[in-house]
Amino acid sequence: MYRILEKRQLSSVVYEMVVEAPRLARHAKPGQFLIVRKDETAERIPLTICDYDAEKGTVTIVFQPVGVSTWKYLELEEGDSFMDVVGPLGKPSDILEMSDEELKSHSFLFVAGGVGTAPVYPQVKWLRKKGIAADVIIGARTKDLIFYEDKMREVAGNVYITTDDGSYMHKGVVTTVIDELIAEGKTYDHCVAIGPMIMMKFCCLTTEKYHIPTVVSMNPIMVDGTGMCGACRLTVGGEVRFACVDGPEFDGFKINWAECLKRSQMYKTIEGQAKLRYEEGKTHEGGCGNC
Ligand code: NAD
Ligand code: FES
Repeated sequence: MYRILEKRQLSSVVYEMVVEAPRLARHAKPGQFLIVRKDETAERIPLTICDYDAEKGTVTIVFQPVGVSTWKYLELEEGDSFMDVVGPLGKPSDILEMSDEELKSHSFLFVAGGVGTAPVYPQVKWLRKKGIAADVIIGARTKDLIFYEDKMREVAGNVYITTDDGSYMHKGVVTTVIDELIAEGKTYDHCVAIGPMIMMKFCCLTTEKYHIPTVVSMNPIMVDGTGMCGACRLTVGGEVRFACVDGPEFDGFKINWAECLKRSQMYKTIEGQAKLRYEEGKTHEGGCGNC
């Protein structure tokens, strides 16, 4: 059992839990995810690891309840336990593969949209430990949805906050801030954009104009997180990939966004899954791991 040590509400719709999981905490790296299961009958939910503390043996997860399952997870309180916490899963972030010299010669831009702010945090924190201060843009629809502002300021270089309705700081979506920073003369060698899929797509269209290589995290299309259900199938550079086993991070310029957006909408319904099976063949039966 995996005890919930802390639970807090971060914004009007987003919650954070610190969970006791010592082995996972020892091995976790930025960019990876875990799967939680409340009890034997509960749905498995893949969530990005938002922080980890090997000494305390804890991992931090952040989630926004959307379906029945995630609302049920919200019933758990401090002192309660998850039956399973599996991980770390997926490949660590690309930046972990860079040598210290490479890291120091790069300037980094992170774009965090809504709930995507949580998975951006461990990467920015990891860079700070290497002595690198990355710029971070945090975007939300409105002021009440902003979270981790103080935490992010502790580890980032500059933090730019923008709200769609202008209720806090800058007004506009995250891509308008990218355009403005470049117009001011800022230059970046590497961008990481994490948030809703439509945001990641438009970030890539924006950074491509400025030739800034951009990595995105395809967590939003995962369902079972184990390579069995086929939901997270996507095309990257003309090749079939699965977000949960080959990612979750990919080169955003190579992703077939139209296909991803269409499949993510269809996979939400049983009818949509059946239609995908009809259109794409037996790629969603599960079991072999090569779906
Ligand atoms: P949201 O819809 O409120 O959007 C957040 C910000 O993204 C907006 O304020 C805006 O600045 C930007 N944005 C949205 N559409 C844009 C567009 N067309 N062009 C430019 N910028 C745009 O975000 P939310 O409600 O917090 O998002 C929830 C979604 O985030 C869920 O679908 C969830 O799956 C996804 N998510 C993704 C990850 C990941 O790893 N990629 C992690 C957590 C959550
Ligand atoms: Fe099911 Fe990747 S989430 S195969």
